[in-house]
Amino acid sequence: MLNIALPKGRLGDQVYELLDSVGYACRDIYLDNRQLVFANEQTGVRYFLVKPSDVAIYVEHGAADVGIVGKDILLENRADVYELLDLLLGKCRVCVAGPQNYREDMERRLRVATKFVNIAKGYYASVNREIEIIKLNGSIELAPILGLSDVIVDIVESGKTLRENNLQVLTEIVPISARFIANKAAYKFKNTEIEPMLTKLAAKIKSGGLE
Ligand code: PRP
Repeated sequence: MLNIALPKGRLGDQVYELLDSVGYACRDIYLDNRQLVFANEQTGVRYFLVKPSDVAIYVEHGAADVGIVGKDILLENRADVYELLDLLLGKCRVCVAGPQNYREDMERRLRVATKFVNIAKGYYASVNREIEIIKLNGSIELAPILGLSDVIVDIVESGKTLRENNLQVLTEIVPISARFIANKAAYKFKNTEIEPMLTKLAAKIKSGGLE
């Protein structure tokens, strides 16, 4: 069996549809229950439903052979896995954002709220700006509104969350999309299973994906 770590949520649903469309169906996944493991002996796949930010951990440690994870998580956690394919799904950007009338005071250390500590540190190091990181786990947009930080480094997809909180993109740091990753040992020892999946996914994406 090929063990696949799927991120729970909308991205996972889209990726599952993509895998289903190239022959890796597992109908039980549509059961509306709290089950986290779904297997299909016929197609030889076992899906694990995993918190999106944990996918690379399962794959790096070999608990899953392959997985689907956002590039943001890969950049932030620097997981030791093979990144095999850009699935061109879950597209968004990691950005610096701040209040609409924001003017940066270059005399002061910049206070940056984010859950992407490494991405933020890397970006500000590259532009030689001294910062203080305020690590948050969600609702990052609240930080500049409440004066907890000057700016945020966060995911922007549609831009709706920023708009509705009177914030704006100040700088785009990096574009993000979902990646197909593999455990390094599994890529070697389960290559006869992983390669066909990779080839089929690549062909499907090249022909326009699910559109
Ligand atoms: C993410 C991100 C933004 C929002 C961006 O939050 O942190 O808040 O999506 O999407 P938009 O540009 O389409 O509005 P998520 O929903 O993952 O929740 P979080 O607050 O826990 O980070």
